[in-house]
Amino acid sequence: MFKRSKFVVVLVLAVFTLFVVVACAESTKKLFLTATLVPEIDSIATDTNEPDASGPDIDNGESKFKSLGCSGCHNTDSRKLVGPGLAGVGSKGDDYMRTSIVDPAAVIVDGFNNLMPKKFGDAINGDDMDDLIAYLNTLN
Ligand code: HEC
Repeated sequence: MFKRSKFVVVLVLAVFTLFVVVACAESTKKLFLTATLVPEIDSIATDTNEPDASGPDIDNGESKFKSLGCSGCHNTDSRKLVGPGLAGVGSKGDDYMRTSIVDPAAVIVDGFNNLMPKKFGDAINGDDMDDLIAYLNTLN
């Protein structure tokens, strides 16, 4: 009888110990998860902030304007060349400028011919396009 109750006590202790071990393991796992998740969330937050913090690169926009050959047809003041001078074109809006560049035939400026190349949609990546639009917005 004595032996049996001792066995029960040992069994209860063993089960209790098992619970403690499992519980500790669970909270260690949770600790570990928090420790790895927090830096990830931090880096996601930093990533999304980066484009806003730096903004479009107007200097890059200007060099794209030259290297893509825009400046061969467009003056940056209001004098006509092959195409209209682009001073003040920013007042027509970013969407209008994007369309004029990517799909020039969509809107033909009065008094000009449809001479603007159609390749720019493929030739200019998203960031360069943003920079180019930002540059055009600086022209007065
Ligand atoms: C071969 C000559 C040529 C080149 C190169 C060229 N354009 Fe044009 N562009 C034109 C002509 C002509 C027009 C007017 C006809 C029209 O609306 O498509 C025009 C129109 C535009 C307009 C609309 C202007 C307005 O007053 O509404 C914008 C903006 C523009 N071009 C930007 C660009 C940019 C940016 C580049 C370089 C990525 C470029 N163009 C390259 C000839 C050219």
